[in-house]
Amino acid sequence: MRKIAPSILSSNFAKLAEEIAAVEDAGADMVHVDVMDGRFVPNLTIGPPIIGSIRKVTDLPLDVHLMIEAPERSLDQYIEAGCDFITVHVEASTHLHRTVQAVKEGGCKAGVSLNPATPLSMLDDIMEDIDLLLIMTVNPGFGGQAFIKTMFPKITGARRLIDSRNPGVLLEVDGGVTVDNIGAIADAGADILVAGSSIFHSPDYAVTIGRMRERLRAVV
Ligand code: DX5
Ligand code: ZN
Repeated sequence: MRKIAPSILSSNFAKLAEEIAAVEDAGADMVHVDVMDGRFVPNLTIGPPIIGSIRKVTDLPLDVHLMIEAPERSLDQYIEAGCDFITVHVEASTHLHRTVQAVKEGGCKAGVSLNPATPLSMLDDIMEDIDLLLIMTVNPGFGGQAFIKTMFPKITGARRLIDSRNPGVLLEVDGGVTVDNIGAIADAGADILVAGSSIFHSPDYAVTIGRMRERLRAVV
């Protein structure tokens, strides 16, 4: 079954526990946490202490997206904080294989992410080692940007790559996902749909997630 992962980047950070409880009640499958360092991306968000606090208020899997330079330097803190999935950017980790192994040795699922302009060929020598592949469909750094439509062939290409090389890998799509395009994105092969502003800026989270779920059900 395809999964919906609300990104708390667009939530009210002053009421984080309530916001997470609200999406949990509304039917979210996991919580997507965007970590930004002000270097890899021009924005700064949250780090391990807040993730540790989030861990205590939800049983949903924590899907942590590290948009930080040299993630290997602080990996232990993210593992310790209680992440389920830790995703690093291929553009940000020089020794990617070592980083992925360290995530797995820490007992977490290991994801790698590609920016919109980074080709799938960057995955050639890491496909057998990962648990999740995150395709960015906006340039990372901010919520509320429009889905880059030219990413559709990349999603279908990623699906083919996974099916041929390592079928257990989950394909996640992040950026500009809405009720209107979620069906087409799932149809292209995505397993996990991240949605920030389209959920947290909507008046009723349950209605929005329900509509998304309906669109996903329509995809074979
Ligand atoms: C962007 C983040 C996304 C972001 C998505 O850098 O990685 O997870 O929260 O937000 P929306 O869904 O509003 O594009
Ligand atoms: Zn993200």
